Amino acid sequence: MYLTTLNIILALISVGNVYACNRPYSAWMADSVISRDQAIVPDGSSPSPSTYLQVGFFQSSVLRLIGYYSTPESVCAESNWEDYLNASTNSIAPFLLNATQDTSYPLDRLSTGRGLLHQYDTFKNTKALEGLHSLRESIDIQPKNSLRGYWYYKYPNWSYLDGMYSLIPFLLSYTSRFDPCNSSVADDVIHQLDLLWTHCYQNSSNLLVHGYDSSKTAAWANSITGASPIVWDRSLGWYLMTLVDSLEISSSFPARLSTYLRRRLTQLSESVIAAADPNTGCWWQVMTYPERKGNYIESSGSAMFVTALLRAARLGYLTGEHASDARATATKCYSHLVDKFVVKNANGTLGYNGTVSVCSLDSSASYEYYVSQPLLYNSVHGTAAFVQASIEQEMLNDSGTY
Ligand SMILES: *[C@@H]1O[C@H](CO)[C@@H](O)[C@H](O)[C@H]1NC(C)=O
Ligand SMILES: *[C@@H]1O[C@H](CO)[C@@H](O)[C@H](O)[C@H]1NC(C)=O
Ligand SMILES: *[C@@H]1O[C@H](CO)[C@@H](O)[C@H](O)[C@H]1NC(C)=O
Ligand SMILES: *[C@@H]1O[C@H](CO)[C@@H](O)[C@H](O)[C@H]1NC(C)=O
Ligand SMILES: *[C@@H]1O[C@H](CO)[C@@H](O)[C@H](O)[C@H]1NC(C)=O
Ligand SMILES: *[C@@H]1O[C@H](CO)[C@@H](O)[C@H](O)[C@H]1NC(C)=O
Ligand SMILES: *[C@@H]1O[C@H](CO)[C@@H](O)[C@H](O)[C@H]1NC(C)=O
Repeated sequence: MYLTTLNIILALISVGNVYACNRPYSAWMADSVISRDQAIVPDGSSPSPSTYLQVGFFQSSVLRLIGYYSTPESVCAESNWEDYLNASTNSIAPFLLNATQDTSYPLDRLSTGRGLLHQYDTFKNTKALEGLHSLRESIDIQPKNSLRGYWYYKYPNWSYLDGMYSLIPFLLSYTSRFDPCNSSVADDVIHQLDLLWTHCYQNSSNLLVHGYDSSKTAAWANSITGASPIVWDRSLGWYLMTLVDSLEISSSFPARLSTYLRRRLTQLSESVIAAADPNTGCWWQVMTYPERKGNYIESSGSAMFVTALLRAARLGYLTGEHASDARATATKCYSHLVDKFVVKNANGTLGYNGTVSVCSLDSSASYEYYVSQPLLYNSVHGTAAFVQASIEQEMLNDSGTY
């Protein structure tokens, strides 16, 4: 026993590593995405409509990682995270500089704003600043439906929960940074979130369905609300993360904004916890039909809920028993994600399994549709969410709070 411990100490000294480190999953998964070069637009090619969110979401995850592990060598990082962020932003910025063009991409394009703001604030990158202004201008000319809800993408009058994750935190951080006197932004934010809340709210589950059509002409649209029929875990995951991330940056806005966000977060997180699968702690692809034929535990939405619940509890947005329930559910799901979906490759990289490719309302929007979309291996929607979930789990473990 004594000898074994001594050998370990000697081994550590002999490699000259002052940090006796074990790379945590957050850093390990981020390094793996970087090794696969999944958040850079390759030279000579143009981004597809789905590239923006992959790049933006992964950048946000790396920024969180740098925020917590400010000395990457202390966690044995194998890639230079700042260099990758720089390269990633430089690869996408040229495609963002025309606001009119920007509106032809989904609202997801705005997720790249966090990375742009980082490059501008930290390194005074002026292309990044141009990109920020174009993205902001693109919101003002984004098509809206008759209720003033932003279209998610090219489908007339349809608003999706998904778009909020990219839109709202970007609009808030841009405004605090460049336009602090614009007090109408807080009201627009509340309006956008509330339109989705009131139109997508499902009485039977207290959860929100994927989206709505204000003109109620889509084949799937509810005749009263325009709502689509299905509660999809990833779209609700984006929405729950939006509430938490927006609260974090709401302090310079009128108090009605944080009051609104906190109220919705309290309501929604309770129903999300109630919808967790009792065996795994995680969430089903179609959240309201656990165990039904074809349904399965989905790995990106589940990692998003873990992230949002742990972060909300850590930041004190959930309190008392509600916070402990959030931690207990999220921690249980997190170990399931690690056991079931994380793949350790022989070359030392990590893979991540069980992420649904994409679900669109440009479909039948039926139960059968949601459970028959292909599953992807190493989808950035899953890996970036897992990086964020891991950071929160590691912070919780490091704090010793349970
Ligand atoms: C970012 O990348 C560009 C292009 O490679 C380089 O010129 C610049 O120095 C880099 N900035 C930082 C802060 O590393
Ligand atoms: C911006 O994009 C729009 C739509 O693609 C195009 O019509 C316009 O010419 C572009 N503007 C500039 C300055 O390139
Ligand atoms: C979208 O809503 C507008 C009313 O704001 C309506 O005139 C238009 O026909 C709707 N489009 C579709 C495709 O339903
Ligand atoms: C404030 O932001 C809103 C969008 O939220 C925009 O429509 C409006 O033009 C802005 N006002 C000013 C004075 O820039
Ligand atoms: C949901 O419940 C509210 C309040 O009880 C009610 O006004 C609304 O009509 C219900 N919606 C549906 C779609 O049943
Ligand atoms: C590591 O191995 C995995 C699984 O075989 C492979 O997909 C990936 O491309 C490899 N990565 C590198 C950097 O070689
Ligand atoms: C991913 O999951 C599927 C379905 O469970 C399985 O068939 C496949 O082998 C898994 N891939 C990896 C790399 O583990």
